[in-house]
Amino acid sequence: MKPIQLKEGVYWVGEIDWDLRNFHGYSTQRGSTYNTYLVIDEKITLVDGVRPHLFDKMMQRLSALIDPAKIHYVVVNHVEMDHSGSLPLIMDVAKNATILTSPNGKKGLLAHYKRNDWNIQVVNMDEEVNIGKRTIKFFLAQMVHWPDNMAGYLVEEKILFSNDAFGQHIASPERFDDELYLGVVLEEAKKYYANIVLPYSMQVKKTLEKLSPLPIDIIAPSHGIVWRSHVKNIINEYHKWASNQTRNKCLIIYDTMWKSTEKIALTLQNAFNHSGIGTKMINLRYNHISDIVTDVLEARFICVGSPTLNSNMLPTVSAFLTYLKGLSPKNRVGLAFGSYGWGGQSVRHVEDALKECGFDLLESIKFQYIPDEAQLKETYEKVKQEIGKK
Ligand code: FEO
Repeated sequence: MKPIQLKEGVYWVGEIDWDLRNFHGYSTQRGSTYNTYLVIDEKITLVDGVRPHLFDKMMQRLSALIDPAKIHYVVVNHVEMDHSGSLPLIMDVAKNATILTSPNGKKGLLAHYKRNDWNIQVVNMDEEVNIGKRTIKFFLAQMVHWPDNMAGYLVEEKILFSNDAFGQHIASPERFDDELYLGVVLEEAKKYYANIVLPYSMQVKKTLEKLSPLPIDIIAPSHGIVWRSHVKNIINEYHKWASNQTRNKCLIIYDTMWKSTEKIALTLQNAFNHSGIGTKMINLRYNHISDIVTDVLEARFICVGSPTLNSNMLPTVSAFLTYLKGLSPKNRVGLAFGSYGWGGQSVRHVEDALKECGFDLLESIKFQYIPDEAQLKETYEKVKQEIGKK
């Protein structure tokens, strides 16, 4: 369990979670890491923690460098338990340590751990704490991802400890962005943004503005790979994602019972393709919702289809729409479609959900039983015309 040096006196001492495959509903096929950082200065400072079951491994890395009892500050950038879960164990070892956290962080820690005996020092926006030869400047980043989030900037080293921002769920022996395929790191950063950060894009924009004057050599997030060679690249991607910039791309997301809804999906694919818009066919039976919203991050057109089952949508479709509504992407064009035997309520339910997302809607498409060639041809022409107006 070796620590990894970021700069002289600054180390990654976190732990790798090789087995993680689900992070509150987000499929994490590459696993993850919980990144803890150690700054060795006159006042030894630990930044963030790991999940409790990985505490011993983190301590092995830490103990290779220092006596953990000598930790002076423990920075809690975020109370969510993937980072603070091991805090009680850390504080049992570093008995004299002071916790540095945001005002909401203090409230969150007391509510989670009920430890009035901990010495907690609240830090505010732009506050600086001297740790010896170095200084940490704090930036409150409320709602990126919880109300307590903050980031710490190690001024002399130009290292930003960004916590959830700029993270990715990747378990790997590599620690830096120039040691892995960049495409993989960016794809996982994009998936992370879509699934965790997207609802808070306004706050991300404010945080990016606040950070923009800082010279940054290294972005050290709390999950995944550390950015040192592609810092500008990931900041640019964050600007794009936070602005809800989309491409002329269409996702056709559906489930089907007896292939009638699928026939409509294929007709939509033709209509979009012949309008010069690339489409991706996404059958909800074979795709995870967290992968689908990763595509939603860049797609302007979102078509969602379901047959009617017991006066409702298929459960796969309603699960996706619930997830989508929560993530609240903006500036999208939606289309609801589906088939039915009798009743036919599914399309209205899909349409209502897309309206609740705030999407600009194309006219919905609905067929009883099996649409024939003439009906599909008419649909193709109608959808092409509507696309032309957008
Ligand atoms: Fe990685 Fe919001 O915790």
